[in-house]
Formats: sequence, structure tokens, C-alpha cells
Amino acid sequence: MRPLLPGELPFASRRLQVCVGAGGVGKTTLAAAIALRAAVAGRKALVCTIDPARRLADSLGLPELGHDRRRVPVERFAAAGLEPRGELWAMMLDLKRSWDELIARHAPSVEQRDRIYANRFYRQLSSALAGSQEYIAVEKLYELSQTTDYDLIVLDTPPTAHALDFLDAPNRVVDFLDNDAARWLLTPALAAGKIGLGLFGRGGGRLFRGISELTGAETLRELADFMLSLSGMYEGFKERAGKVKKLLASPEAGFVLVTTPKPLTVGEALQFHGALEKSGLAVGAVIANRVHADIRAAGGDELARAGRSDGLPEDLVRRIDRALSDARALRHGDEEQLARLRRAGIEPFALMRRDRDVHDLGALWSLTEPLAAKGDAA
Ligand SMILES: Nc1ncnc2c1ncn2[C@@H]1O[C@H](COP(=O)(O)OP(=O)(O)OP(=O)(O)O)[C@@H](O)[C@H]1O
Ligand SMILES: [Mg+2]
Repeated sequence: MRPLLPGELPFASRRLQVCVGAGGVGKTTLAAAIALRAAVAGRKALVCTIDPARRLADSLGLPELGHDRRRVPVERFAAAGLEPRGELWAMMLDLKRSWDELIARHAPSVEQRDRIYANRFYRQLSSALAGSQEYIAVEKLYELSQTTDYDLIVLDTPPTAHALDFLDAPNRVVDFLDNDAARWLLTPALAAGKIGLGLFGRGGGRLFRGISELTGAETLRELADFMLSLSGMYEGFKERAGKVKKLLASPEAGFVLVTTPKPLTVGEALQFHGALEKSGLAVGAVIANRVHADIRAAGGDELARAGRSDGLPEDLVRRIDRALSDARALRHGDEEQLARLRRAGIEPFALMRRDRDVHDLGALWSLTEPLAAKGDAA
């Protein structure tokens, strides 16, 4: 923990921030905004994004491809009317390349490394193994935290179907690399309830036959080759995964849980929140993003009244009324979801829904203005 600077986001007091949440809720947007605010306030900040929208990547000065860290040019701040006291750095995390780097780091020889790279299982690892994308993202955070001198590193995370995928990722990856190939292969079938767990208790021969029937002998051979080519690397992987896990639970790291005020995503956020707390991970903030504006506060009702007394055509007044009542209903729904979070003991930070996507520094800045800290120094 460190004192906040004026203009920083009040929940971002730890050096490592991890933005998590369901798909499309605003994780990447928020990750960029946290780093932007810290940089303007005077920090040397890095945002590590995953699949940012093209226009956001452009605003951060990131090229089409590229996994390298780049400093956002000062001119881009100037264009948004901002003057950074610190530095903003950005990168796009290429999950595949990060896996390659990890393999290269652990492989005892170039031949072994290349054999892994060429294996079909390895090439499909990121989609085939639940949690592998989440794992490689936090693995990258670990690496950056150890090898760079940023005051703040904000990690964006890939869209995660289940919170537990994210939290279990280091364990799963280690389990997998621990040569538990059969379980890995069978996991989808197990999840679908097609195969009973009892299978594992019986003879290995039968297990193997069962897997062969499911996958074909050729596929099995490739898997076996993959597991073989990883041999000798497990210990290194395991040790590293242990360190990654430890870092996430350390006082250096904090989670920012992003959600939208919709029943489904709030349900997921509550689950995620529970899972994070149970795992002893620090949730710095829950952000409710894209909250509809309060139409009454925005003067909507006066507008309708004025329209009527100004003698606007009845049809138009009716349309205004309908639009206002829709807006009120949306706001009401959002308020209910915010109340639901509060009932669960969570005080969410609300970010307003904008009419347009939030893709440039100016928009990131103004979106988060209502949350900005006064600063501990002030
Ligand atoms: N408050 C907001 N008002 C309007 N648009 C927003 C707001 N917040 C985010 N957006 C837009 O919504 C889209 C999705 O946001 P973003 O990419 O940050 O979500 P994400 O959680 O990272 O998605 P994914 O899970 O796919 O990675 C973007 O186009 C972004 O500009
Ligand atoms: Mg994203």
C-alpha cells in the first residue's frame, strides 16, 4: 500500500492491479483508465491489455501486433488536454507468445523447446486447457513485477467463463503438467457427465482403452509425445506457478472486479467476489460499469413538462414521455442491482454508461473523473 496521489483511482493503492470480471463488462477499459490516471498523477504506470479494441490500442499508441511495452507519447495526452506528471506505458499481451516464452525459459535445450512448439497439443493448449489463458496472464504479471521498475502495473484479463477458472489456473496448469494427462483428456467428458469417476479406480489398461476409443490412437500418441517432451520441466513449472500464486495473494496485488448492473453479471460478480475472498485475495473495488444516468437528476421530467406547456405536438410529447419512462425503468433496474451488491456487503463504485465507446484518453479520463481520489496528500 502506498499513499494515493490526487487524481488517482482511490482503490488502486497496491502496485499490482488485476482487472477481472465477465466478458465485455469493461475490464480492458478500466485497466487502461487506472493506469492513465496514475500516470497523469505522477506514477510510472504500465497497462498490460488483452485483445483491446483497435481504437483503444491506437489511442495507446500500440501497433497492430506486438507484445512489447511502449510508452504512450506525450502528444497523445496533450490531444486529450492532459499533462502527465508520470509515464504511461502500454502493451498487448499475446497469450500464445507468452506461453512460448515460458516454455523457452524452462526447456533444457533448444531441441526440446522446438519439439514442444511443434506439438499439436501444445499448439492447442490455450484453448484446450481451462485456465491456461488466465494462468499465462498472471504469469506475465509475475514476470513484469520481478523484472521492471513500474510504480503500478495493471493487468487486464481474458474473458473468463467462471471465476474459478481464473483462481484455479495455477493449480490446474500444475496438475496438467504433472502428467495427469488422462484426467485432462477426460475432463470434457466428465463435465458432460458421460463418464463416471469410478473409471479412475480401475485398471490403467481399461482407462487407456477408454481414452483411445474417445480420442483415437493417433491423438493419444501425440499427447504422449507432448507429455514426454515436457519431462524434466515439471519442477521448474511447479515452482514458478507457486510463486505466481503467492504473488496474487501478497499485499502487493489487488483485484478490481468489474461488472455491469445487470442481474446476470451481478450474480457472477457476487460469486467471483466470494471466490476471491475465500482464496484470501484482496478485492480493492467492485466497479459497476455502464450504469444508466438518473433521468430525473438530468432534468428529464422538467423537459417533458416544458414540452407540454410549450405546446409541442401531442405525438412528440408522447414519444418523449415514453423515452423518459424507458430511461427511468433502466435506471431503476440498475439501482436494484447496485442495492443487491450493497446487501451483500459490497459498496460498488459506479461508472456511467456513455453513449459512445470509451476508446481514447480523453474519454477514459472523463469516465473515471467522478471516482478520482482527492489524494492522501491533499
Ligand atoms: N461506461 C461505458 N460506457 C460506454 N461504453 C463503454 C463503457 N465502458 C466500456 N465501454 C465499451 O464497451 C466495450 C467493451 O469494453 P471492454 O473491452 O473494456 O470490456 P472487456 O471486459 O475488456 O471485454 P472482454 O471480456 O471482451 O475483454 C468497449 O467498446 C468499450 O469502449
Ligand atoms: Mg477485454
